[in-house]
Amino acid sequence: MKVTKIAVVGATGMVGRTFLKVLEEQNFPNCEYTLFASAKSAGLKLPFMGAEYEVKELTEASFDEGFDIALFSAGASTSKVFAPIAASKGCTVIDNSSQWRMDPEVPLVVPEVNPQDIAKSKGIIANPNCSTIQAVVALKPLYDKYGIERIVYSTYQAVSGAGVKGWDDLENGAKAYVAEEPFEPKKFPHPIFSNCIPHIDVFLENGYTKEEEKMINETRKILHDDSLRVTATTVRVPVFNGHSESINVELKEPFELSDIYALYNDFPGIVVQDDPSTDLYPLACSASGHDEVFVGRIRRDFSVENGLNLWVVADNIRKGAASNAVQIARYILEHKE
Ligand SMILES: NC(=O)c1ccc[n+]([C@@H]2O[C@H](COP(=O)([O-])OP(=O)(O)OC[C@H]3O[C@@H](n4cnc5c(N)ncnc54)[C@H](OP(=O)(O)O)[C@@H]3O)[C@@H](O)[C@H]2O)c1
Repeated sequence: MKVTKIAVVGATGMVGRTFLKVLEEQNFPNCEYTLFASAKSAGLKLPFMGAEYEVKELTEASFDEGFDIALFSAGASTSKVFAPIAASKGCTVIDNSSQWRMDPEVPLVVPEVNPQDIAKSKGIIANPNCSTIQAVVALKPLYDKYGIERIVYSTYQAVSGAGVKGWDDLENGAKAYVAEEPFEPKKFPHPIFSNCIPHIDVFLENGYTKEEEKMINETRKILHDDSLRVTATTVRVPVFNGHSESINVELKEPFELSDIYALYNDFPGIVVQDDPSTDLYPLACSASGHDEVFVGRIRRDFSVENGLNLWVVADNIRKGAASNAVQIARYILEHKE
C-alpha cells in the first residue's frame, strides 16, 4: 500500500500545534509527515507521534519531494505564494488562511455541510473562518428543512483566534492587572483583559470589519445561496479558547421547537446542551478541547414570524480550524481511488 505523504505548514503556530494533536488522535494508517514553518523555526524539534520531528524551513523547493496533502496554517501571504506551488506539484492543499476562501475556483468546505464540494477541488481547498464553521453547522439542518430568510450573527470570540500573540495579550494583561502594572497590548488595538472589543480584523469602507464580511460571504458560499440575507457583529472577548455566538435566524417556513431539537439530535457533529432548569447551555470552557458544535438556548424569537434564537459554541482552534481541515483530509483519503 502506497504511503500518503502529509505536510503540515505552520506547524509551530496555534493552529499548527493543534493539527499535530488532532493528527495524533486520528492516527491515519500508512502516513508520513513533514513539518514546516518559517526560517525562524528551522531545526526546532516538536514532539509528534511519539517521536521528535525537526521543523523544516518552508521554501519553494519544499514540495519537490511529492506530498499528497498539505495542511496549511501559516497566514494568507504564505498561502498565496506556496499553496499554488504545492498544488502545481500534485499535492492537495487544505488551507486555513483567508487567502483562497472566496476564490470561485476553490471549494470552501465544512464536511458536515458541503462535503460534495471537495470533489470540485483543482488542488486547493479552503477551510472557512472559525466563526463561520460553527455557525453553518448549526444552520445547515434548518436551511435544508425550512429554508432561511435572514441571519443575524453576534459573536463572542476567544483570543486564541488571534494566534499566539492574541493569547499572550490576555495572559499578560491579566498578570499586569493583578500586579497593578501598566500594560501595552501587542496584538489587539486595546487591552483585552476585562474588556470586549467590537473589532476583529481590519475595518472596511462600509463600516463593517473584515471578520464580519467573512462571516457573511462565507455563509452564502458554503450554503450555495448568494441571495441569503446575513448581517454580523463580531466581538473579541477575554476568553482564552472557544468562540460563542448568538444566532438569530428567520426561517422561511413555520416550525415546532420539538422538531428543531429532533433535527439537531440527528445531525452529525452537533451536541444539544439546553436545559434551563439545570443551568445547562453551551459554554466556551466546556467546548474547548472538543470537535463538536454545541447548541443551546434554543427558543422562539417572538418579534418576527418564524424567528429562532440559538447560542452556538465550539472550539475555534479545533472545529474552527485544525479538526475541520483534518476531517477534509480524512474525506480525501477515504474517497481516493
Ligand atoms: N487561531 C485560529 O482560531 C484560526 C482559526 C482559523 C484559521 N486561522 C488561520 O490559520 C493561520 C495561522 O493562525 P495561527 O493562529 O496558528 O497563527 P500563529 O500562532 O501566529 O502561527 C503562525 C504560523 O505560521 C508560520 N509562518 C509564518 N510565516 C511563515 C512563512 N513565511 N513560511 C512558513 N511558515 C510561516 C509560523 O512559523 P514560525 O513559528 O516559524 O514563525 C507559525 O507556525 C492564519 O492564516 C489564521 O488566519 C486561525
